[in-house]
Amino acid sequence: MNETLEKIGITTEERYECIYTTISPEGVKNSAAIGLKYFGGNDVGCRIFEGSKTLENIQKTKKYVVNVTQDPMIFTKSTIDKLPDEYYTDDTDIAVLRDAGSYIVVNVVDIDEQKPENTPIDNDQSIFMIKGKIEKVVVNDESIKAFNRAFSGIIECLVNVSRYKIVDDKKRKYYMDRVIENDRMISRIGNGKSKEIMKLLKEEYEKN
Ligand SMILES: Cc1cc2nc3c(=O)[nH]c(=O)nc-3n(C[C@H](O)[C@H](O)[C@H](O)COP(=O)(O)O)c2cc1C
Repeated sequence: MNETLEKIGITTEERYECIYTTISPEGVKNSAAIGLKYFGGNDVGCRIFEGSKTLENIQKTKKYVVNVTQDPMIFTKSTIDKLPDEYYTDDTDIAVLRDAGSYIVVNVVDIDEQKPENTPIDNDQSIFMIKGKIEKVVVNDESIKAFNRAFSGIIECLVNVSRYKIVDDKKRKYYMDRVIENDRMISRIGNGKSKEIMKLLKEEYEKN
């Protein structure tokens, strides 16, 4: 286990939502929200769907940077828009977010194309499994931890469970479907505690 990664909340147990920054061979920077899996030692992995700029840059440069941030605006602009230049450091050879709590520079060692199974995306797009080795980790602010989606899923389910008994059947079905979806998500990206919580929540729903 890497102690520096542990300080910023990254363990081998969960998956984290981070901002991946890449640079094209022509020097154009790009950012996107992508999940991070840490395998221990210097080994990390991610899965990127066909067609993204991030994938294209990684295939060409064999390098990417994982930025740890909890800033929802950075996630939003990276997903539905282009992140403006002022969000990046002035480096010209690497894309790094200026305000990242920390960042991990990764060298790609393997890219494997697969057809997706058991994902919410229902089409024939390939998914690329990308394995990398950590080159370095820079921590600017260790109070900013890597974001794990289990917590938001659990909070959503808890809000719904508190309303479950006072809504009509249509809304109850909607809440139950959200539990099923959050359970699916947490079984993939959560730790033992989140999975235990989802078990309790499902039992609670089944009582009513
Ligand atoms: C929180 C979050 C996590 C995401 N994780 C992934 C992922 O692991 N793999 C992937 O291919 N896309 C993922 N996406 C979708 C990409 O961020 C999205 O397709 C993005 O537009 C790609 O941008 P790009 O073309 O600039 O690379 C995620 C989106 C969000 C909001």
